[in-house]
Amino acid sequence: APVVVAIDGPSGSGKSTVSRAVAARLGLSFLDTGAMYRAMTWWMLTNGVDTADAEAVAIACGKPVIVSGTDADGPTITVDGVDVSGPIRGPEVTAQVSAVSAVPAVRTRLVELQRDCAGLAPRGIVAEGRDMGTVVFPDATAKIFLTASADARAERRAAELRGKGVDEATIAAMAADLVRRDTADSSRSTSPLTQAEDAVLVDTSALTLDQVIDAVVELVAE
Ligand code: ADP
Ligand code: CDP
Repeated sequence: APVVVAIDGPSGSGKSTVSRAVAARLGLSFLDTGAMYRAMTWWMLTNGVDTADAEAVAIACGKPVIVSGTDADGPTITVDGVDVSGPIRGPEVTAQVSAVSAVPAVRTRLVELQRDCAGLAPRGIVAEGRDMGTVVFPDATAKIFLTASADARAERRAAELRGKGVDEATIAAMAADLVRRDTADSSRSTSPLTQAEDAVLVDTSALTLDQVIDAVVELVAE
């Protein structure tokens, strides 16, 4: 059976960075499922769909064509052929993605695309998100739940934004939004963020990126 590595955890725990590095090291494909929920949200905003209106989101969510490029050396994401890798990281999308991702019809659609990506991966895939181990890939080869203290996660995001020249007021707002989003993601009724029973917990608060990558590679090899 093809290798599937399922990595879940809250925002800023290191999922994207670690998953990409592990995929590159093991010669596997890489799938950032958060980018797909962000792409769906970007399309709703661009097309004037009220993201607070779950019914409207459910009706519209079949329309955008979302394509994820799963090369670990250069993952891509397009919506209707447009590269949205930049705009999906912006504050507008970040503020509304949790509402869109809580709509069951959105999840049904994107989960299907995620399984298709795994099926097409030549050697297997490292998939990261909130429900990889619990819902999308229940039979994954390895399941890892990455966490870090709320302070460590907020500090990492802040450092990232500072590096991009973002001002301190925006950084403080992003930190507050991170807490709000984690609460929303963990308390929604469909596929809440939670550790799978058979997932291994890795707390990255006091570890370097290299230490986390080594630990995950070791868990996959077991
Ligand atoms: P997630 O995908 O879970 O939101 P990211 O992979 O985007 O998290 O990581 C957020 C930021 O934290 C990135 O800038 C990354 O380089 C940094 N980071 C991740 N893990 C660690 C770690 N163990 N030690 C230090 N910095 C880390
Ligand atoms: O980068 P960050 O960790 O902040 O977020 P992300 O991984 O890009 O995910 C953005 C949002 O998408 C999350 O806050 C969730 O609301 C949603 N998401 C989800 O519901 N299920 C997934 N498998 C992945 C993301």
